[in-house]
Amino acid sequence: MKNTTLLTLLGLALLLGGLIWQSLQVSRLQEQVLEMNGKAAAPSEKEATAAVASPKENEPKENEPKENEHYELAKAMGYMQRFAEKIYWAGKEKNWELAAFYVHEAEETAEEIIAHKPIKNEKEIAPLVAQMFIPALEGLEEGIKAQDALLFGQKYQTLIQTCNACHAASGYGIIKLQVPTQNSFPSQVFAP
Ligand code: HEC
Repeated sequence: MKNTTLLTLLGLALLLGGLIWQSLQVSRLQEQVLEMNGKAAAPSEKEATAAVASPKENEPKENEPKENEHYELAKAMGYMQRFAEKIYWAGKEKNWELAAFYVHEAEETAEEIIAHKPIKNEKEIAPLVAQMFIPALEGLEEGIKAQDALLFGQKYQTLIQTCNACHAASGYGIIKLQVPTQNSFPSQVFAP
């Protein structure tokens, strides 16, 4: 009889411990989801987890997305497409100085995008630009510095693949780029 009481007590203690552990895990999960979603979380959820998350962690995240909404990433991308095409035609004409100029312009556009921290389809674009796109531009610079048409051609292919990889990764797989087949800038001289 004594044994069964002890066992019941032990069972109850375990059950209670389990419940506390579970609720701790749930609030940790909520915190993580909130961090991942940034501002996407509903206000009621935010209030519920406000007590859990420290205010320091919350503050910058509350402010950032407001700017992101107003930044027109598509406009910057239009420039990106333009610069990418001009890089190509300059490189094709072995006008390495002009190709380097447009790589630099593309880098500046990339840095501008990073600075605005845009969010698309709940994905942060800035880390993708920094991790995928900047290295692809640097690769292209190698070919330009070496004045190596073959290497330039290979690195240009990689650049275009990177454009498409990011579009796919951010939910814009519908926007597909290819190596230019026709020069869209008849008013500009690309030959050195
Ligand atoms: C780090 C991610 C990323 C990289 C790298 C990237 N893009 Fe984009 N691009 C996007 C996103 C996201 C959109 C959708 C923008 C929007 O909806 O506001 C977009 C939209 C576009 C558009 C549609 C807007 C328009 O003017 O028609 C074009 C074109 C485009 N990108 C070209 C390029 C080219 C060219 C490159 C490479 C040289 C490139 N992108 C690299 C993320 C990226």
